[in-house]
Amino acid sequence: MCAVTLALAKGRTADRMMELLAKAGIQFPDFHATCRKLVLNSEDGTIKLLFVKAVDVPTYVEKGAADIGIVGKDTIMEEQPNVYELLDFKVAKCQIVVAGFEGKQPEKDKVITVATKYPSIAERFFVEKGIRTELIKLNGSIELAPLIGMSDVIVDIVETGSTLKENGLVILETIADVSARLIVNKASFATKTIQIQQSIKSLKGVLE
Ligand code: PRP
Repeated sequence: MCAVTLALAKGRTADRMMELLAKAGIQFPDFHATCRKLVLNSEDGTIKLLFVKAVDVPTYVEKGAADIGIVGKDTIMEEQPNVYELLDFKVAKCQIVVAGFEGKQPEKDKVITVATKYPSIAERFFVEKGIRTELIKLNGSIELAPLIGMSDVIVDIVETGSTLKENGLVILETIADVSARLIVNKASFATKTIQIQQSIKSLKGVLE
């Protein structure tokens, strides 16, 4: 039986998931804490794991380069890939928030500048609220933007809240709760049904 290819988001999601996969009996013998390998095969040969940048996981899965993927709901909400979303692993839990200086709530009568890694999520959120925005797309250290006057607020993920706190920022509004999710390529789901169902069954072990 050919292996199911799994694209796993490096960073926060992979850090939590590798531990859980091992606990669920899905072992990758070549994996270790400082591992730099980008492709790993499971001990039983059923899963070929690809470590990819979180933002690329939806592309790998939608295009069929990977049959399945594990990535944060934040990335799924931003990229809106044409895939099935089948499991919530309930790990790597974060919130997508609007953050800024205490008391500086976005107001309807002015255009606010928003720095974010998530321009689509931010745009949808503010359009729905009737608040006009100028979006500034950044790729990291988003909290810096209001500190140096580049933006009024940010839309970003918060996990422990430490980064906001240490930079004198607060949550102004919560947009969504997010966690690691399983996504599946639609064609693979039809053509490799047995293998994918088997992988999902094994991955569900992670939830127990
Ligand atoms: C994310 C996010 C915040 C931080 C929040 O950044 O953009 O900066 O984590 O985590 P906390 O609430 O636990 O402090 P990430 O670590 O992904 O790095 P980045 O700034 O390079 O995007």
